[in-house]
Formats: sequence, C-alpha cells, structure tokens
Amino acid sequence: MRSLLRINQPCIGKEEIEAVTEVLKEGLLTDKSGAGPQVLQFEKAFSKYTGAKYAIAVNSGTAALHASLMASNIGQGDEVLVPSFTFPATAGAVLLAGAKPIFIDIDPKTYCMRVDLIESKISNRTSAIIPVHLYGLPADMSAIIKIAGKSGLTVIEDAAQALGAEYQDKKIGNIGDASCFSFYGVKNITTGEGGMITTNDAEFAEKIRRVRVHGEERPYWVSTLGHNYRMTEIAASIGTVQLKKLPTFLEKRRKNAEHLTKKLQDIKKLDLALEPEGSKHAWHLYTVRMRGANAGKRNRVVSKLRSKNIGAAVYYETPVHLLPLYRKYASQKTDLQETEKASRQVFSLPIHPMVKQDHIEEIAKNLERILTKN
Ligand SMILES: Cc1ncc(COP(=O)(O)O)c(C=O)c1O
Repeated sequence: MRSLLRINQPCIGKEEIEAVTEVLKEGLLTDKSGAGPQVLQFEKAFSKYTGAKYAIAVNSGTAALHASLMASNIGQGDEVLVPSFTFPATAGAVLLAGAKPIFIDIDPKTYCMRVDLIESKISNRTSAIIPVHLYGLPADMSAIIKIAGKSGLTVIEDAAQALGAEYQDKKIGNIGDASCFSFYGVKNITTGEGGMITTNDAEFAEKIRRVRVHGEERPYWVSTLGHNYRMTEIAASIGTVQLKKLPTFLEKRRKNAEHLTKKLQDIKKLDLALEPEGSKHAWHLYTVRMRGANAGKRNRVVSKLRSKNIGAAVYYETPVHLLPLYRKYASQKTDLQETEKASRQVFSLPIHPMVKQDHIEEIAKNLERILTKN
C-alpha cells in the first residue's frame, strides 16, 4: 500500500542540500546584524519576485506579523481587525504586540474577511487591519485598502499561505502597507522555519530591520524595543534556492487543483475551491465544503479518506474566537456565524507538487465513493 499522501510536504532537492553545505563550510551560520550575505541575497530575490521595494527576512511568519505591528507602533490601547477563521498566529501577533484583536466574519465562498462588515467594527481605537489570504486566495484587497485609507488604518497582510498569489495583476506582497510571509516546513516554499516582510515604505523597512535585532540602531545601542527575529544564513540559503523553484511548484499546484476540480465537479454534496475573477490562487490548500445536511459527516469523511492513506485535513476545526485564550475578545457569538459554519464543514485535500495526476484520480475516486455511501 502507498504511504500517506500528506496534505503538504517540503520539496527539497540536491540544490538546497548543496546550498546549506556551502554555508556550513563557510562557517558564518548567522550574522549579528540580521543581514548576512545569504539573507541579503534571499531578500533581494524576494523583493524582485513580489515587486515590493523592500523585503526583510525574519525567523517565522509569526515574527513577521509581530515585527510589522511593532514597527507600526501598534500596542496597548489599540484594536486590530482580524478574521477568526485563520491560524491562531494572526491574532496571537496582535496580543504579543499588546493590542486587542477584533474578529470579523468571513465570506462563505472565499473564506477571507467579509469586507462589508469591516466598517461596523471600526472604533476610535482601531489602528490596523490584518486580512488573511486564506489557503492562498487573496482577500478583497481593493475594498480593504479603500476602507483603511478612509479611516487611517495600517494594512498588514497575513500572506503566510499566499506566496505566489496575485490580486488584480499584482503579486501579493506589493499591495498593503506590509505583507507577512511564512516559510514554515510545509508552506509553498520553506526554510524550515522562516518569514519575510515586504513593504514599499523605506522608513517602515528600517524600523522592521531594527525590531529584528533587539531594536539596535548600531551594535549594542538600543533606543526602541525589539526582538531576536534574525533569519539564519542556513535558512536564507535554502530560501534562495526554493524561491527559484517556486514557479514550478506553483504550476504543479495549479495543475493539480484544476484536475481535482474537473474530477469533483459533479459531486452535488461538495462546494469546491474557487478562484474568483481578478485573483490568482497560490493553491497552498485545496479546500472543499460539505453542503448543508451533509456537513455533520465531515469528520467521518476525513477519517475515511485518511484510512485510505489520503491525508485530508481540516483547517481550522476551531475558529480562533472559540479558543480558550481568545473567547474574551469575541463580543457576540452570532457575529461570526459564517466562520463557525465553515469550521464545521470544510476540509482540504492534497495538491502539493509531489502529488501526481494518478493521486488526484485516486483522491477523487475515493472521495466520490465515500460520499455516495455516507
Ligand atoms: C495564516 C497564517 N498566519 C500565520 C502563520 C504563522 O507562520 P509561522 O508558522 O511561520 O510562524 C501561519 C503558518 O503557520 C499561517 O498559516
């Protein structure tokens, strides 16, 4: 029997191994300024890829979000608008900065923040919006930018899952005030752990660089608070190689997504992943939804797929506002109905670059069979 087809997995080749070996032989594993030669090379390539003027490498996507909030002077007394249907790090970064997350419901089709609800949540304490490009699909950025402009809010995009996505012909990473990427082990590209912030604002970029190294203006001279958010030279060397491979990775993900859509489109019990006009999906995850009365069977369907070694998975079974740490920040449960509904109905299927056309056929065949029987 075939081993488990994982929901996502790193694609590492001999080029990454060679790059790491080279760094290990050189002996500079990290640079105290946070900007060693490998980091600088990765940042340069990343800014070229996204089209953003500045790219600042850090050691996780969470660090990218937290550093962006710190560099925007967002902290105690501030409110930040975030979706609840996301990985908890989005809201976690807001708490780390000392601010308060205010949750916004999602659009039931795109799973991204519902933009028509944003204005009703803006108070005189609101200072930023963090839209999440969930599963790799861009949020409705033109509406978000317009609202933010009107109310003087900073837009920090959580693009952890969206490297390679585009919105109205612009790469994600070149739209809001800052965009935060993750290179966690199973993201569209990986450095093991890692992150990147892109921006077109020189002053903001400089503040981020400072946050990255304890707030140092120059060695051992600190005037503002920072952290150790440096990316290692080892990680950056992997990142540069992975970034070169990204177009091929994305092409494979897209091909798999299209193939899966074709195979699943006649199943009445499922809503499939979609790519709205004007958006280019990064296909980090292919997420389907069990319709109406079938929704209660979601977990059973996922375990049956897993018993066939198809690594279906649920992102996210518990919305952030229902997690113990965050319950006190959700004003009214009924505010987040679409979020709660989606968390009961969605599951994701493997489409990463190691997934072959045969696997897609196998996923579709098994899913169809399981749904017919259940
Ligand atoms: C939407 C989202 N935001 C933030 C993060 C945090 O990134 P990291 O795990 O690199 O800290 C992740 C990834 O895991 C994510 O998926």
